[in-house]
Amino acid sequence: MPLNLAIDGPVGAGKSSIADEVARRLGILHLDTGAMYRAVGCTALRRGVDVNDEQAVTALCHALRMTVGYENGGQRTCVDGEDVTGLIRTPEVSMAASTVAKYAGVRQAMVALQRQLASETPMLLDGRDIGTRVLPEATVKIFLTATPEERARRRYLELQQKGAQDTYEQVLRELRQRDEQDMHREVDPLRAAQDAVVVDTTAMNFDQVVEAILAIVEEKAHV
Ligand code: DC
Repeated sequence: MPLNLAIDGPVGAGKSSIADEVARRLGILHLDTGAMYRAVGCTALRRGVDVNDEQAVTALCHALRMTVGYENGGQRTCVDGEDVTGLIRTPEVSMAASTVAKYAGVRQAMVALQRQLASETPMLLDGRDIGTRVLPEATVKIFLTATPEERARRRYLELQQKGAQDTYEQVLRELRQRDEQDMHREVDPLRAAQDAVVVDTTAMNFDQVVEAILAIVEEKAHV
């Protein structure tokens, strides 16, 4: 089995950007599994499929062809040959992704694809269920977290930079709503694997988190 690293954690813990940098430093690919659920949610919205209709979303998910590629080290997520990477970061798609991610049929399809990709090449995967479901045998498992207020503050600053009008209170409210949905769904809810190392980033900056994770990887995987 190739070297596989799992980073799980709630929304706004910094998983994606941290995982990007850690993977770059280790010279391996980073698979952002949230992008895949986002692509399903986004496709449902664009094709007029009600995201609350489990059957319809599951049928859509089985009918579409998702592929993941890399361009200059960056992940491109495609649905039926169309690159949707630029369409999946809106607050509307975030909520839709969290909703479609509750459905067993959707999760089954995404987990199968994630396992296949991870079996082909050394990879760092980030998500909610990587250490618990996708790769229970992962070489290193990390659970990245921070307080809801700090995660909302980071998300708010990120949205502001993109010119979004959302207030801090709105961002915090949506984050709590997504936490609730991700942690309390029936299928593979967000939780730390028993053998995961928990890293609380509330009082850490980006570089400190990257260094902390690299140190854990070095200790556990001897790379
Ligand atoms: O990490 P993110 O915010 O891009 O993820 C979007 C949604 O997808 C999130 O609300 C929960 C879901 N998700 C999941 O259920 N399992 C994963 N492995 C990754 C994301």
